[in-house]
Amino acid sequence: MSSLEIVDVHKSFGDVQVLQGINLKAEEGEFIVLVGPSGCGKSTLLEIIAGLESATSGSVVIQDSIVNDVHPKDRDIAMVFQSYALYPTMTVRENLSFGLEVRKIKKSERIEAVKKVSEFLKIESLLDRKPSQLSGGQRQRVAMGRALVRNPVLFLFDEPLSNLDAKLRVEMRTEIKKLHNALKTTMVYVTHDQIEAMTLASRIAVMHGGELQQYADPQTTYEKPANIFVAGFMGALPMNLVECMLVNDKGLAVRVTTTNGENVDLPLVDPDGIYQAYINKKVMFGIRSEHFARSELIQGALPDYMGSITCEVEVTEPTGAETMVIFRFGDKQMIAKVEPEHAPLAGEKISLTVDMRRACLFDPDTEKRIFQ
Ligand SMILES: Nc1ncnc2c1ncn2[C@@H]1O[C@H](COP(=O)(O)OP(=O)(O)OP(=O)(O)O)[C@@H](O)[C@H]1O
Ligand SMILES: [Mg+2]
Repeated sequence: MSSLEIVDVHKSFGDVQVLQGINLKAEEGEFIVLVGPSGCGKSTLLEIIAGLESATSGSVVIQDSIVNDVHPKDRDIAMVFQSYALYPTMTVRENLSFGLEVRKIKKSERIEAVKKVSEFLKIESLLDRKPSQLSGGQRQRVAMGRALVRNPVLFLFDEPLSNLDAKLRVEMRTEIKKLHNALKTTMVYVTHDQIEAMTLASRIAVMHGGELQQYADPQTTYEKPANIFVAGFMGALPMNLVECMLVNDKGLAVRVTTTNGENVDLPLVDPDGIYQAYINKKVMFGIRSEHFARSELIQGALPDYMGSITCEVEVTEPTGAETMVIFRFGDKQMIAKVEPEHAPLAGEKISLTVDMRRACLFDPDTEKRIFQ
């Protein structure tokens, strides 16, 4: 049984089409993350699932029942909002038990539920405080606690960590993942932070302009992005992309013309013949920063799946664990990641190898990945 199914959901506000036919399915116990740039329709979709907004067309199915006409409070969903929305005049204890009171749960059960959740979230010592007497992270826990006391079939989170500082954000991210591992309740989590999406999700739904771009596990969205948008959006660094020609002179290769008119051929691995239809055509060549390496580090002859380029380093950016090397290739700026001890200097001319087994090619017209 799937926990949640979204079937061809469209949403317009007046003339503005905000969601353009979204289809998604979450299996029982999945952690689905909706990710995409600001305004792409993430919160609107979450609100439609919760019943706080209605879809213009399409349906929302929860545990095999269409809930389009079911009132939000009868959907057995708990939602954590970005703003936390705690009741300022109530204590933490009252904030936690209020939702249960509204649902006419017996007092003894309410006390038990609040005890269990506050222990789990380590907020027992805060139960008699008001929200104004809490730090941001503590408020965030209370907001989560208010959802958790309910034991619903589906949790919805709308950017619950966006008000926190960077360190606390990372800590709470881990807490949420532990929470999901313990509860195993299906979760739908909205964020515009692709690292949060990668670290939390069982599957990521990448949205852009009200359309679903890709729905896949985190590693697939990173390694095999469905299109140029996903390649640029997912990953701490966007995928390096440059226009090139596919040629077949001395074997199949990606040919990049540099700004001084020189052609550089990089050998293409194509066991299934997928790229044959693109020979002598323009394609977009994509490669992740970690698939470059300093050529000096390769002993002996290059394996036949490796290409090699020479470039002038524009600037380097050390991050501690690794150093980013920024250079131009073709008409594009690219970033290669190297170990700090192998970092070149700005202005240095260096040679880099390219692991072409990891290359992604995209059709420049449709912007879709040419499937392998
Ligand atoms: N009630 C409304 N009336 C008109 N337009 C709306 C309404 N609510 C949202 N929109 C528009 O719908 C689009 C999607 O909004 P939504 O809040 O779903 O985006 P989002 O992906 O959650 O963005 P963010 O990351 O900034 O929260 C935006 O262009 C927004 O201006
Ligand atoms: Mg939003």
